Amino acid sequence: MADKNFEKLILPMGTTLDRFIMRNQAHFPYATGELSQLLRDIALASKIVNREINRAGLINIAGSYGSNNAHGEEQQKLDVVANVRFSRALRNGGEACAIISEEDDDMVITGNNASKYVVAIDPLDGSSNIDVNVAVGTIFSIYRRRTPVNTTPTMEDVLQAGRWQVAAGYILYGSSTMLVLTTGKGVHGFTYEPSLGEYYLSHPDMRIPETGTIYSVNEGLLPDFEPGVQRYLEYCRAKRYSGRYIGSFVADFHRNLFKGGIFMYPATAKHPTGKLRIMYECNPLAFLAEQAGGKATTGTERILEIQPTSLHQRVPLYIGSRQMVEHAEALLQAEVPVRA
Ligand code: AHG
Ligand code: MN
Ligand code: MN
Repeated sequence: MADKNFEKLILPMGTTLDRFIMRNQAHFPYATGELSQLLRDIALASKIVNREINRAGLINIAGSYGSNNAHGEEQQKLDVVANVRFSRALRNGGEACAIISEEDDDMVITGNNASKYVVAIDPLDGSSNIDVNVAVGTIFSIYRRRTPVNTTPTMEDVLQAGRWQVAAGYILYGSSTMLVLTTGKGVHGFTYEPSLGEYYLSHPDMRIPETGTIYSVNEGLLPDFEPGVQRYLEYCRAKRYSGRYIGSFVADFHRNLFKGGIFMYPATAKHPTGKLRIMYECNPLAFLAEQAGGKATTGTERILEIQPTSLHQRVPLYIGSRQMVEHAEALLQAEVPVRA
């Protein structure tokens, strides 16, 4: 007979990502199953990348690849591996007509001209952390193409403002691997069960706290920041907020999503328009932040409103709990005294 102890022994595993996507397909505008398939392709590639990351120390794929990417940054071997895994899955899956990636100089035309989606991807975020066994991530973003199907996609298809995203998410390869997803109907978190090879819905309807006491910024760059940013950081210190900065945007964002906080990457001398890239980093996480009740701005402008003009464009970013981002904006914009 099923008593309480028995029930506890065999708790149901819950909803798989596949089932969740299938169930929610009806909510996507003009759904024909292609977006669902695209999300499945991304999830599959992430499982392969997860495996590569877990084995990185064993099979000599940690460390530098010996070349630079489109941004002049040193590529890690795993940057290259992850880029190939995701590009291949997206190309072979057949549901993306074009891909733009942080690791590729130009737009990749997949040859699937009949498909109606384009994908922007940061295949491995925080890759400089890989050698020291710290959490890294993958960020993805999906748009509908602008040009008609069955034509060759153009820059118009990939250079869209973030508000046109139909889905976005990230995979965090951390103490456990999680996929966090939005299709514009809230934010849902799935945890990977490695022995079954499945993502299970573990965090339905995630909400970021309205405010918090964590600030995440590379404070070593403080002398470079404009006075408004310095003023806000003074405020954070005065309030004895906790400084938490991993150097993997996905991991920093994920923590703040749970605990409440603000992540900032302001303009610096080295990166006069900020370091993070609109298409691969800012837009997808801005979409997730807003869907979770948070906010993302450049300090003066909503991230999702920016019309990008080049693939690898960067912007300053303030993202996280709504009240904290609004307070940062206020101190950035005006000569107001630090609020005690
Ligand atoms: P990526 O590994 O994709 O190039 O991204 C690194 C980014 C981001 O993940 C992180 O928040 C930021 O760079 C860290 O930059 P600093 O080392 O300048 O703080
Ligand atoms: Mn990145
Ligand atoms: Mn990257």
